[in-house]
Amino acid sequence: MLPTPDLSHLKKKDYEFIYEPAEDTFLFLDAFEDEVPFLKELNPIISLEVGSGSGCVTAFVGKILGESCCLKFCTDINPKAARATQGTAKQNQITAEVVETHLTTSLLPRLENQIDLVYFNPPYVLTPSEEVGSHSVEAAWAGGIDGREVIDEFLPFVKRLLSPKGVFYMVVVNENKPDDIREIMKQDGFDSSVVKTRLAGREKLFILKFVRSKEQQNQE
Ligand SMILES: C[S@@+](CC[C@H](N)C(=O)[O-])C[C@H]1O[C@@H](n2cnc3c(N)ncnc32)[C@H](O)[C@@H]1O
Repeated sequence: MLPTPDLSHLKKKDYEFIYEPAEDTFLFLDAFEDEVPFLKELNPIISLEVGSGSGCVTAFVGKILGESCCLKFCTDINPKAARATQGTAKQNQITAEVVETHLTTSLLPRLENQIDLVYFNPPYVLTPSEEVGSHSVEAAWAGGIDGREVIDEFLPFVKRLLSPKGVFYMVVVNENKPDDIREIMKQDGFDSSVVKTRLAGREKLFILKFVRSKEQQNQE
């Protein structure tokens, strides 16, 4: 088990404004640890975390893949989270380019089909639609109907962001209907698998992994 990144620069007060790493974050870290052989083989040149929050996941990815691994982009809609990610990168001696933006708006079309590794622990909690779209801490969890509103907005971008060999990982819960998400991505030319699951209280968490199907790779 690799150590969790050093977050000692973030205090209790900070977590009133940004997402405090929780079971979903730690399941993501566990999944990435299992995926090290695949990721080393992939040898990503550019990576992107959408919704980086504290920056814990990107610091971990940076550590497990080594500093030579890649140019690491992070985005977050919450300016305090973007700042926290910058601080966490520094604290853990990794480099990351952090952009405050909605999903990946500021990165497209510039980085179209350039990113080898994309990962997102999205706001997946079922809430009224009106709660979606905040730029503060509520953005960490408010997922709207079926917890799918931010997820569904992002899915079409995966095809545009990923390089031909690229991979996308995402955290979801049962209520988000993971099979339905996998079917949507299949229509977009992606094969999928569940690389990790865990029960956390009443939540059943899944880490989904998507890669372009062979047919789609051959078309590129
Ligand atoms: C569940 S938290 C995950 C934070 C961190 N990645 C982790 O795993 O601990 C979701 C993050 O996504 C961000 N977020 C929500 N909606 C977003 C959007 N439309 N664009 C960019 N980031 C968003 C939130 O601000 C929050 O930091």
